[in-house]
Amino acid sequence: MQIAIDGPSGAGKSSVAKAVAARLGIVYVDTGALYRTVGYYVRSRGVSRTDTDGIVACLPQISIEVRYENGAQHVYLNGEDLGDRIREPEISMYASAVSAIPAVRAFLLDTQRDIAAKNSVIMDGRDIGTVILPHADVKIFMTASDEARAERRTLELKAKGMDVRFEDVLREMRERDDNDRNREVAPAVAADDAVLLDNSGMTVEESADAVLALVREKGCVPS
Ligand code: DC
Repeated sequence: MQIAIDGPSGAGKSSVAKAVAARLGIVYVDTGALYRTVGYYVRSRGVSRTDTDGIVACLPQISIEVRYENGAQHVYLNGEDLGDRIREPEISMYASAVSAIPAVRAFLLDTQRDIAAKNSVIMDGRDIGTVILPHADVKIFMTASDEARAERRTLELKAKGMDVRFEDVLREMRERDDNDRNREVAPAVAADDAVLLDNSGMTVEESADAVLALVREKGCVPS
C-alpha cells in the first residue's frame, strides 16, 4: 500500500501520517528529514544556502541511511543520527534551499523509492504524489491556514525546547512555502488526482480519521 501526503509546512502531515501508520500497521516515511539532513551537512561545511555549486559539491561527501527503530524513523548522516538537530529553524531554511536544486532531489530519489518498494508506506513531503510515488493508492494534499500552521509549528518547536516566536515562525514559514511552491523542479503542488484536505479546525485524530476514510473508500483496507 502506498499513501502519499503532500502539503506545506505545519499542515500536520507528520502527526497525521504517524497516527495513520500506527492504525494501519504500515511504515511512516518523513521525506523532509532527508532534505533537512542534506541542509544540515551543507551548513556544517560553512556553505551558504544560496551557493548552488557549493551545495552540489557537498553531495559526494554525504551518505544517508534511513533506519526504523521501534517504529520510529532515524536518519543517519555519515553514520551519525542527528536527532532533533535537523529540526532547528535555520536548518528548515537550508532544507528548503537545497531542495530546490535538481541534483539534490536526484540524490535522494532512490532512497525514497527503495523504502516504498520494500514496505507498505504512508510517505509525507512535497512531491510524493507528483514525482516519488505517482501511482500511490491514495494521494492527499493537506493544508491549513497560515496562522493555524504557524501556531502548530511554534508549539512543536517549543515542546522540543527551542526558543521561538510565533511571528518569526510565521514569516519563515511563508518564505519557505514560497520557495517550495515556486521552484522549477518538483514544486510543492497538489497532484491532479490528489484529494484536498484543509484541516484548520481539526485535531490530529480528526484528520487521521479523514485520511483513513479515504483509504477505505479506495478499497485499500476493509471498512
Ligand atoms: O517537511 P519538512 O518541513 O520537514 O521539509 C523541509 C523542507 O524540505 C521543505 O521546506 C521542502 C523540502 N522538501 C521537499 O522539497 N520535498 C519533500 N518531499 C520533502 C521536503
